This record gives sequence, structure tokens and C-alpha cells, in this order.
Amino acid sequence: MTEKTLSEMAVEVLTTADGREKTAMSRAYAQQWSEARDAGTPLQIGHADVPLRPSRPETPRLRDPRDVPRRRPGTEAGRIAILHAVAHIELNAVDLHWDIIPRFADTSMPIGFYDDWVKAADEESKHFNLVCDCLEALGSHYGALDAHAGMWRAAEDTVNDFMGRLAVVPMVLEARGLDVTPGMIEIFRKAKDDKAVDALKTIYAEEVSHVAYGSKWFHFLCGRHELDPKEAFHTLVRRYFHGALKPPFNEEKRAEAGIPPDFYWPLATEVKSGH
Ligand SMILES: [Fe+2]
Ligand SMILES: [Fe+2]
Repeated sequence: MTEKTLSEMAVEVLTTADGREKTAMSRAYAQQWSEARDAGTPLQIGHADVPLRPSRPETPRLRDPRDVPRRRPGTEAGRIAILHAVAHIELNAVDLHWDIIPRFADTSMPIGFYDDWVKAADEESKHFNLVCDCLEALGSHYGALDAHAGMWRAAEDTVNDFMGRLAVVPMVLEARGLDVTPGMIEIFRKAKDDKAVDALKTIYAEEVSHVAYGSKWFHFLCGRHELDPKEAFHTLVRRYFHGALKPPFNEEKRAEAGIPPDFYWPLATEVKSGH
């Protein structure tokens, strides 16, 4: 029997459009990966053609962020809008984690890199399902509202730059999640929506390790290429990330995830001074 390679599995997840189907496949393949690892017979990483963009369901309709209505967290409709936006982020995160594996398969990496990425992909899949469950408990569902277009932009911008991908996706975008999630938990705690509070707390706890994986492997590649990590991070974020790093930063959780203040503060302050 010829086993699928991890790259082939990744492309199957990426080319599955429906969210629940995508995450079910993602979780099943993550389990296959870890079982093979535990048995001492790891799957091959292999190679596979990766589409530039993953397959997505017909809804939600993707719109320019400026055209997505603002959310009022004091109302149930506002809270549904927040959960819908989080579900959209999580679905993108599932694809972002699988995308990196075949996209950069030509760069030889220690097997621990794939362990981390597959584990994070599995957790993103769980996050999407948890948030969809919350939406459904409120009588809505993923696809009921519009969602931000451009969520995949970071992936396209860094399609040829592995270190750029690590700098922008886990170390900027996922780190931003650490900054904003406590405020979201508070909104749902006030609304006594325990299901959403539990889901967001799970997301918050697990996202720290995703940022940490990004930092760990970014530093690894800097070491391989004899680059100063802070300088390299600043160069790559300036090159590929469009927009400001917005304070306030969750300095405690960022530190826990291996991102020191001198990585992000200079990128925030330069925006303040009008660059
Ligand atoms: Fe997540
Ligand atoms: Fe994540």
C-alpha cells in the first residue's frame, strides 16, 4: 500500500471547500501523522502542487473589510458577528497551517517542524468547529454573514518566502490574536455565554503555542542562515505586512510565546511617527 505523503494530505485539505468537511479531514490526517510518528514510522513529507488559494464554501461572501458592518458587542447580533469573524479567521488558519507544508517542502526541515505545524492545524480545525458550534447555538452559522476578503493576502504575499511567511503569519497575525482575545472573552462573559467563553479560552490557550512554534522555527532558520533574528524579523515584516502593528500588546503572552518587545515595538512606533 502506498501511503499518502504529508504534502498530498495538505493539498487535499486545501482543496476541500466546505468548512466542516475541511476540518474533519484535517483532524483525521493530523491523527494519522501523529500515530505514524508514535509508531516510529513517520509519513514522508513528499511534494505536491499547491493551489495559490485554498477552496472555500460559496458562503460567506467575501467583502472588503471596509464594507463589513461594524459590530456592536452589546447585542446578540453583535456577538454573532464577532463569532462569525473568528470562525472565518480559524478557517483561514487551518489552510495557512496546511499550506506551509507543501509550499516550502523544498526547504529541508527537522521533523519536529512538521509535528508542530500538524498539531497547530489540528487545533485550528478544532477552533473552527468550536466557534461554529457557538454560532449554531445562537441560531446562526458560518456563512450567514459576510466575511473579510484579504485574509489570504499574507499567504500570497509570502508565497516564495518561507521566513517571510513565519514572520507575518504566526509572529504578527497569530500574535495579534493574543492581544485581542482577552477582550473578546470579556464580552461573552458579560453576556453570560459560557459556551463562547469556553471556546475562546481554549483558543487563547492554544494560540500561545502557535506563536511559539512560529518564533521557534523562525529563529531556527535565522541560525541556519546566520541572520540576526530581530533584524531579519523587522526587514520581513516591513516587506510583507501591510499595516501597523497595533498596541496595546499582550506583552506577557507574547513573551511566553518567544516574541520579545524589541521585535514588535519598533514596528508600532514607526507607524506612529508617520512612516
Ligand atoms: Fe486558532
Ligand atoms: Fe493559531
